[in-house]
Amino acid sequence: MDQIKVRDTMERTFLMIKPDGVQRGLAGEVVSRIERRGLNIIALKMVQVDHKTAKRHYAEHADKPFFDSLVDFIMSGPTIAMVIEGRNAISITRSMVGATDPSKAAAGTIRGDFALDITQNIVHASDSPESAEREIAIYFDDVI
Ligand code: CMP
Repeated sequence: MDQIKVRDTMERTFLMIKPDGVQRGLAGEVVSRIERRGLNIIALKMVQVDHKTAKRHYAEHADKPFFDSLVDFIMSGPTIAMVIEGRNAISITRSMVGATDPSKAAAGTIRGDFALDITQNIVHASDSPESAEREIAIYFDDVI
């Protein structure tokens, strides 16, 4: 009989509660949703993002017209960075976060329930295994 391959889909992803989410007191709501879904938060810290880190985080958007406002916004107040682990953690976390543009985010998602603005959209979550690895490494040098 074939062995059941549970660990194949075990993933880690990166999620950041942006300055608006922290400032509005939504950190507990976001953490609670992740935990209630059954995902594990294996690292978490409050981070005041500096300019160098902000540019590194959003490097893939460097040539976009909204890059400067994105960088300015992520530095505008404390954020909460975390590493989430679980089965299919990357896609499940993204589906809980909802569409990037809150006007298109479904009700029941974090952005669909709490956000109206595409810059101030409460959370960031990695969109692929490659970005998860890259983003975890930017904020957590001690997670292996
Ligand atoms: P985030 O998930 O942090 O990843 C990149 C961010 O860029 C995204 O959330 C939005 O806040 C922002 N973004 C994406 N597209 C646009 C856009 N068209 N105009 C302004 N900001 C955008």
